[in-house]
Amino acid sequence: MQYPYQIDSAEAYQKAWQKSVEEPEQFWSDIAGEFVWKKQWDKVLDWNFREPKISWFAGGRLNITENCLDRHLEERGDQPAIIWEPNDPAEHHRILTYRQLYHKVNQFAHVLLNNGVQRGDRVCIYMGMVPELAIAVLACARIGAIHSVIFGGFSAQSIADRLQDAQARFIVTCDGAFRGGKDIPLKDVIDDALVTCPFVERVIVLTRTRTPVSMIKGRDVWWEEEIHRVETMGNPPVPAVEMDAEDPLFILYTSGSTGKPKGVVHTVAGYMIWTTYTFVNVFQYQPEDIHFCTADIGWITGHSYIIYGPLAAGATTLMFEGIPTWPDAGRFWDIVDKYRVNMLYTAPTAIRSLMSFGLGPLQDHKLDSLKVLGTVGEPINEEAWHWYHDHVGKRKCPVVDTWWQTETGGIMISNMAGITPEKPSYATLPLPGVQPVLVDENGQEITGNEVSGNLCIRFPWPGMIRTTYGDHERCRQNYFATYDDLYFTGDGCYRDENGMYRITGRVDDVLNVSGHRIGTAEVENAINMHNGVVESAVVGYPHDIKGQGIYAYVIFSHEISEADLTRRDIAHTVSRIIGPIAKPDKIQFVPGLPKTRSGKIMRRILRKIAEGETTSLGDTSTLLDPGIVQHILEGKIH
Ligand code: WT7
Repeated sequence: MQYPYQIDSAEAYQKAWQKSVEEPEQFWSDIAGEFVWKKQWDKVLDWNFREPKISWFAGGRLNITENCLDRHLEERGDQPAIIWEPNDPAEHHRILTYRQLYHKVNQFAHVLLNNGVQRGDRVCIYMGMVPELAIAVLACARIGAIHSVIFGGFSAQSIADRLQDAQARFIVTCDGAFRGGKDIPLKDVIDDALVTCPFVERVIVLTRTRTPVSMIKGRDVWWEEEIHRVETMGNPPVPAVEMDAEDPLFILYTSGSTGKPKGVVHTVAGYMIWTTYTFVNVFQYQPEDIHFCTADIGWITGHSYIIYGPLAAGATTLMFEGIPTWPDAGRFWDIVDKYRVNMLYTAPTAIRSLMSFGLGPLQDHKLDSLKVLGTVGEPINEEAWHWYHDHVGKRKCPVVDTWWQTETGGIMISNMAGITPEKPSYATLPLPGVQPVLVDENGQEITGNEVSGNLCIRFPWPGMIRTTYGDHERCRQNYFATYDDLYFTGDGCYRDENGMYRITGRVDDVLNVSGHRIGTAEVENAINMHNGVVESAVVGYPHDIKGQGIYAYVIFSHEISEADLTRRDIAHTVSRIIGPIAKPDKIQFVPGLPKTRSGKIMRRILRKIAEGETTSLGDTSTLLDPGIVQHILEGKIH
């Protein structure tokens, strides 16, 4: 497949960026013309950031699965679409060609229809990293149902919250999931979640681990039996439902500074165009390349760069069920050599974790198929960048540091492999269509170079968030109300002497733990569920592998006789309420928290203490009880 919109030089990048700013409608309609539409759009862009209202390609009709599947059948029906590597290297891998994937998506689309799923219904998908997860996602898109994938590490309570918010009546899950040496009982977790979700009518269960499960009569059905029913019907193809460009494609929940995760909504056409355009340009995808994105499909990275972007581009995408360190820390390198992977896209936390095993696991691996390396999810420190570049890429692969968010749908600021310059720990330059702005606390734009500020975006791009599900006001409040007429990212950022951007981390109460976004308020709510806890405050601190660790200050209601046991109980509570990813790394019991006279917790002080600061804690004179600071300092957990 040729990509007329693929940028092939630094000059072409400059020109494309300029054009995207000066003539955005012309720029994006040229690119949109490379996709398959059932009906041409009437208006390229209609927007204001006040409401906000964002509409791309209004009046256009299409189905994203025709772009990801049908249109490739003639030219590349026998090319692998998905290569799947199982958790256990001794188990057989699977390859699904575009034709096979098309067939399976049609079959499962039929299963959804047979089970009463209709266009616009929300379908929750809670599965491990098996090809059927991608199939379920695409089958939803084919019939116009809105998928809401929930990461397999979330607890029953988190699932229930999301099911209720989305009013999802359908669930697709597995009996269990393999992850490293573990076997996670997904169906059991769903059963627990459904105790408080009586509106769920149907649960479709795929067999993966053969863990015993209980199947509830009238509610639960087996994936395999449902497929069998479709086969006996003769596998009729399912027509791709004609969707409006601005119809919702999916909801994906993400954490913010409040206690409640928000359902980020992406729409069909803009998201498709944005993920495809950024995939092709950032990674400089060439026909037959094999792209390995190590993320889980439960996060936006998996949605955009395992499924939609690569498939719409007719690429071969590799999906891995397991984890980087199992059975040993050479697993990624085994996979790269086994399939001759050309592009590897992973998170800094994975790189740092593999780095800690030394160079041993890299030996006996050729890694000579690699052409491009990518990182995403958190700032990458220079040491990790160089290790990745030198030892994995053998100094011959460009490293793309891609900055973006669940809300942006796809990559926003990044170098383009081999086309625009790279700079360790810098996401570098905005992609065409992206207009970054740095602002100060008062919303004043900070112009010029060698400056820092809060990162905002001035103009809409096709892949941006449209709303937060069921609560548009929340979307406005969160992203468009902090600064007038700007989308606010929540990130701090530095612009260097050459206009290159370096993301410095969140400026709100959101933590980034191993590339996962976790709201401090969510963790506090979970800690406070423990019956002995009176109050808590959670902050982040620098962690060698995770990027940020979670530090919790906890006021307990009574004398604690066994502190370690109580700490474990509290961590267990968080695990039960949110999931293991949100477990605090350190818990310090304190007699009080540093509060202002108006009762506001001074998080700045708590953050500094957690970071290891002992002297310059800033002004503590406005505290209700300044003595508490010394007390907390003395009890610091190292
Ligand atoms: C937050 C978004 C984007 C998919 C994975 C995370 C941080 C993301 C980078 C990067 C520095 C980064 C930001 C952002 N982040 N990429 N290349 N350099 N920071 O998606 O869960 O929505 O989190 O991750 O803080 O706001 P997410």
